[in-house]
Amino acid sequence: MEKLEETLNYLSKTTNNFKPEFVVVLGTGLSVFCDELDGIKIKYSDIPNFPSSSVLGHKGELLFCKIANKNCAIMQGRFHYYEGYTMQQATYPFKVFKKMGAETLIITNAAGASHKGLNIGDIILIKDHINFMGDNPLIGKNDETLGERFPDMSDCYSKSLRQIAKKCALELNIDLKEGVYLATSGPSYETKAEVNAFRMLGADVIGMSTVPEAIVANYLKMKTLAFSLVTNYATGVSDNKLNHKEVLETGKTQGLKLCNLIKKIISC
Ligand code: HPA
Repeated sequence: MEKLEETLNYLSKTTNNFKPEFVVVLGTGLSVFCDELDGIKIKYSDIPNFPSSSVLGHKGELLFCKIANKNCAIMQGRFHYYEGYTMQQATYPFKVFKKMGAETLIITNAAGASHKGLNIGDIILIKDHINFMGDNPLIGKNDETLGERFPDMSDCYSKSLRQIAKKCALELNIDLKEGVYLATSGPSYETKAEVNAFRMLGADVIGMSTVPEAIVANYLKMKTLAFSLVTNYATGVSDNKLNHKEVLETGKTQGLKLCNLIKKIISC
């Protein structure tokens, strides 16, 4: 608790007591979201008790800004489990945002499609997840002031927010598909056999993030929305070999419509 207070004191001082209503987590290649936004930028490395982000394609910065007159906190770069952070470390920022007053979390990620029913560049509205990471961010002593020991997960990706997202997508002429996201720990991509197994389990898209964040947000009773940008076909779905550079490129070229969709949802 002292740790949280130290972080909160620092952020409240540097942002003049800014109270974010929305938190947005930008996935691989989606930093264009911030291109026309102005506000207070803070490096993760300057925030007491924040881990620091290092992975290629991620900035490691928080932006406090207004979108359509709503107070927002934008995470440019996230903390991945595969970088070696514990899940508890990787999800620490969400406890901070909740304490700052945030009620809604919008998560984005880059993901591989497990079947050809999806196309590269598609935006997938995540309706549920399969946690294949072999860990859970809520393991350990529970702080009852933050949330309950055994949180229900039946509305982890808020049904009411998903309805709003679908309406906004329709207005923007975006073909928004709904699907199930499966997370592995990474950092190696999946084998063909794993992708076949995951598809049979019900996964539409596969990635290495989002699940710890969504579990903690749900625990904190923050309403959560999450989107995958399909940057590639997962191993074996097409003949291509996977590489991180291509994932980044697709994020850059296809990410703009997802950014516009999120801004529209916030303005609703
Ligand atoms: N698998 C796992 N994570 C990913 C992928 C993938 O195919 N593409 C982008 N992130």
